[in-house]
Amino acid sequence: VTAQSDTDFRPNFHFTPEENWMNDPNGMFYLNGTYHLFFQHYPEGNTWGPMHWGHATSKDMINWEEQPIALEPDEKGYIFSGSAVVDTKNTSGLGDGETSPVIAMFTYHDPKGEEAGREDYQTQAIAYSLDEGKTFTKYEGNPVIKNPGIRDFRDPKITRDEVHDQWIMVLSADDKTMFYTSQNLKNWELASEFGRGIGAHGGVWECPDFIQMNVEGTDEKKWVLIQSLNPGGFNGGSGTQYFVGDFDGKNFTLDESMKGVGEDHSYWLDFGKDNYAGVTWANIPEEDGGHLFMGWMSNWQYANEVPTETWRSAMTIARELKLTKTEDTYRVISSPVAELQKYKGEAFTKNSITVEAETKIAASQEINLSNSVISFEIENLKEQEYHFSFSSEGDDILKFGYNHNKKEFYIDRSQSGLTDFNENFGDKISTAPRLSEASNLKVEAILDNMSIELFFDNGKTVMTEIFFPKQAFKNFSANGDKIFEIRNIRIHEIKT
Ligand code: FRU
Repeated sequence: VTAQSDTDFRPNFHFTPEENWMNDPNGMFYLNGTYHLFFQHYPEGNTWGPMHWGHATSKDMINWEEQPIALEPDEKGYIFSGSAVVDTKNTSGLGDGETSPVIAMFTYHDPKGEEAGREDYQTQAIAYSLDEGKTFTKYEGNPVIKNPGIRDFRDPKITRDEVHDQWIMVLSADDKTMFYTSQNLKNWELASEFGRGIGAHGGVWECPDFIQMNVEGTDEKKWVLIQSLNPGGFNGGSGTQYFVGDFDGKNFTLDESMKGVGEDHSYWLDFGKDNYAGVTWANIPEEDGGHLFMGWMSNWQYANEVPTETWRSAMTIARELKLTKTEDTYRVISSPVAELQKYKGEAFTKNSITVEAETKIAASQEINLSNSVISFEIENLKEQEYHFSFSSEGDDILKFGYNHNKKEFYIDRSQSGLTDFNENFGDKISTAPRLSEASNLKVEAILDNMSIELFFDNGKTVMTEIFFPKQAFKNFSANGDKIFEIRNIRIHEIKT
């Protein structure tokens, strides 16, 4: 058995920086067959520090190659989170007539201004690339948006709005979202604000995203505002809520079904504690899926203290987002990108297992559990509890499950290995009630050494969490307060 700590817990098929600190994903765009990912990065230390934009590229969003740093801090400040778009019509005039310029927009965070007690130390700036994202030049007219006297004023995310022939940019300001519009990506006009008295406000709103989505199986289109906040997440610390509505070119209005949505709501992209600041890729052709998302797999409660040394933090698996209409409202559902399929190696399958007391499903001699995709179903759900667990040779145990009495899913990492580095880590957390009335349950779990991503009911309810087992998992087992049957069990090793 390899001790997980020997390999410093590094995942195999999730993006991690080669060295040192990483937080939010930034500036993701697709161009000519390549997916670009930029990220909040401190290349000189394994805790948060002066922010740079690191850069990585991939052909499939699974296998990433780290590239030279894209943006470095300068006298105007650190390079905080932001986005990038491909300006195919050269609306910015920053192109050279040969390739489409890539325009990145980010927040300058001026640490000296902050120390001096000023309020206007965060401003918005742009940079452009004429070599498909390899190198960026900061625009000489920066900042393009000055600070109006709001301390937390950051994380610009640009979207193309074809209907109104304009660029839209959403920005977080304290605990609301500001909407800006532009024709040329350089001059921005404040169009509206959103968020007062709506949704969860336990902390600062950060890293918004605003996308127009097709409602699955219809011709209807809705606008979705994805809005991270910290603290104040569903299970404490960092979390990402979303709002569904309409956009008239200036104002975002909440859909009737979400009117009155308050602090305690169930519109969260993920109920686990470790999917934060996630946003979507720009310039994805609609026929290729449209809305591809990635989040930072950590939480500000303990991000700086997790027990890795050479690197710190991984991204979630890339996910496809879809919008579905239910009987009474709209819901965003997530699934791992299809590209993950091609990394599926050896398989372990079983048609059915009857679970009585503690029952083994699979062991590491049969299949690699630490780097795997596991799926199974339970039919005819009953008023009972369903528990699953991964355990190592020692005493590490990671549990998850479903309580059909309360209709809630949970993850319990309280005994999952190293937990005491922070008091908020070793906990058991649950979701809001299940968003499906179905009498059967479908579960898909992705494991990668230090992370679990759970997609229940085809991604209607999602939970993502990290953990640090002292040894690799040996057994996957199930138990319940009553007997039950697991069907269509499939475990695939993920090989990179
Ligand atoms: C979110 C965040 C952003 C900010 C960045 C700084 O995790 O706080 O609001 O731009 O991290 O690294």
